[in-house]
Amino acid sequence: MKREESDPVVAIDGPAGSGKSTTARALARCLGWTYLDTGAIYRTLGWLAVQEGVSLDDEDVLVALCPRLDALSFRWGEDGLLLVFLGDVDVTQAIRGEEAGRWASDVSRHPRVREALLDLQRSFAKRGPLVIEGRDTGTVVFPKARWKFYLTASLEERARRRLREMGLEETPENLEGVKEAIRERDLQDATRPVAPLMRAEDAVEVDTTDLLPEEVVNLIKRLVKEG
Ligand code: DC
Repeated sequence: MKREESDPVVAIDGPAGSGKSTTARALARCLGWTYLDTGAIYRTLGWLAVQEGVSLDDEDVLVALCPRLDALSFRWGEDGLLLVFLGDVDVTQAIRGEEAGRWASDVSRHPRVREALLDLQRSFAKRGPLVIEGRDTGTVVFPKARWKFYLTASLEERARRRLREMGLEETPENLEGVKEAIRERDLQDATRPVAPLMRAEDAVEVDTTDLLPEEVVNLIKRLVKEG
């Protein structure tokens, strides 16, 4: 693809805990580009559905909830924390954690829900160059993204990172619980019929298992700056 035919977008995809958020946030801040965490969109929809007592299997009702996500906004908090608001409501804490991740994975299985959320995701690129992360950002949302990355890491390491993010102690019991939750979510995300988690053919794969967060950011930043 010629440079002028591609979108000025860095698309970072990969499974839960592969380092996407840390990398994408640091990259966006350092480049001064817009950042979009597409997982937060699905998480907020899952949370909203649970608040409204909607079944996560009911595609029609979930699709009808999607326009309410136009009220979603993101703000940077202290220490690079991303605050997520739905209208005036700060949902940052409510959508963290593996339970909300599971709700997100459940609502994101539905093809018409995914379709209904495409315009919202693409609208973020109207504000200028974009760093976007998720599961299908390089395959479906921005197939013409100029830079595509697919991050991976061992299940063990991904579970450790999730525990740290959630502020939980690394006991064998906690580790096993998170491993199981991530394994199930990955399986559901990778085997759904529409926009499954997979590496775009033209994405650069980075195994982050033994890399420090700043090493991943520097590697990706270098590749983006090279053009
Ligand atoms: O990245 P995350 O853990 O916040 O994502 C939560 C869930 O949302 C994930 O398990 C599947 C869904 N998701 C998706 O289907 N497509 C995306 N682009 C991002 C997330």
